[in-house]
Amino acid sequence: MTESVAGEWPVGRRARILEYGENPMDAIENQLVIEDQSAPDVSTLKESDCVIAVKSASVGWVDLIMSSGQYQHMANPPYTPGLEFSGEILWAGSDAKRKGFKIGDEVMADGFKTGPRSKGDYRQFGGFASYAVAPAEALFHLPEQLTFDQANQFLGSYETAYHCLVARGRLQAGETILIHGASGATGLAAVHLAKILGATVIATGRSEEKLEIVRKEGADHVLCTNEDHGGLDSLRKRVRELTDNRGVELVYDGVGGPISAASLRCVQFGARYLIVGWAATPFVAKGRGQRGSPNANQLPTNLIMMKGLDVLGCPTVISTHRDPTIREERLEQLFTWVRSGQLKPYAGRVYPFTELKDALLAKWTSDWVGGCAVHPV
Ligand SMILES: NC(=O)c1ccc[n+]([C@@H]2O[C@H](COP(=O)([O-])OP(=O)(O)OC[C@H]3O[C@@H](n4cnc5c(N)ncnc54)[C@H](OP(=O)(O)O)[C@@H]3O)[C@@H](O)[C@H]2O)c1
Repeated sequence: MTESVAGEWPVGRRARILEYGENPMDAIENQLVIEDQSAPDVSTLKESDCVIAVKSASVGWVDLIMSSGQYQHMANPPYTPGLEFSGEILWAGSDAKRKGFKIGDEVMADGFKTGPRSKGDYRQFGGFASYAVAPAEALFHLPEQLTFDQANQFLGSYETAYHCLVARGRLQAGETILIHGASGATGLAAVHLAKILGATVIATGRSEEKLEIVRKEGADHVLCTNEDHGGLDSLRKRVRELTDNRGVELVYDGVGGPISAASLRCVQFGARYLIVGWAATPFVAKGRGQRGSPNANQLPTNLIMMKGLDVLGCPTVISTHRDPTIREERLEQLFTWVRSGQLKPYAGRVYPFTELKDALLAKWTSDWVGGCAVHPV
């Protein structure tokens, strides 16, 4: 698909979720299809639109939970998943050109403004497709420092990590932070940003192999929490050993479940505790077929009280929708770090489009460090 003359583009491919699954596994196995995609007819598009040949699309956690209707934003099946993607402009309307976009430009899509998480006309154009259409305001030019694969791991994960660490966590240079799920897409982003911000990072995970990569990516200490290493019972002792018995100032918890309560024994008085997600207990959220599930994420209030803790919920997307002004500063800072070479988003495993189901299953079972991606073209 190299031709850039509208009307002469070949038939492409796209994924569709036909109906919400009972859970993400069910959606992947039974509701996901790959079908032909006609090239967009530019005579139907707005002058502010661009047609993008998608080069790489992130396989994200939200893509998974959205496929079973568990995400707070409903995509209304049938829809094309792929919240974050990057690619090359094939066509730009006159307004889009005035805004600086032209054929051949390398761009990445803003999942707030286009794709299945957006509202309105552009929600139909997910990244798991050969072609996407997005308005100019939903596109960023790719900084030269980023590959397509890095670009689509950038906004969601690093905006989340920034919102959690900076806007909510008030992380200061010299502080020590405990990051759970550090091998995950948002967890690894948090490791990168915490290091840039001058913190000492203690990263946890269940796999020594993945933690070795997290260490190479900047974590000062890694703690494997599987049973071979004493499980969660030894967490307090090991964190205290690493902090001269003080405990940490901040916890970034993207995992939930039993590790949350165990973490409250690893903190110092007045610490901040960031509730980022619950990868370990994905069915606690209300979702189709999951209603009435007991909430498996509970924090002991006695420890919160006696240690004077700040427990902070960090819903990046919801907070940003409620107050869009919080986004400008974080985007500016993140792009500045990328351009200066300080921030290098981690591009995990890449799958061919024909193996999209494998990629989604691998994301569900946390097989790889960071995010993974598919190449639709
Ligand atoms: N607050 C926000 O705005 C926001 C934004 C994006 C995502 N999130 C949430 O953050 C969480 C993580 O997202 P992500 O994209 O980083 O996911 P991810 O890439 O799948 O990473 C999650 C990590 O958690 C660990 N994990 C998974 N299942 C586990 C289990 N049963 N027990 C212990 N650890 C487990 C895994 O690390 P190991 O295999 O190494 O243990 C995995 O790498 C999700 O709940 C997601 O919904 C929140």
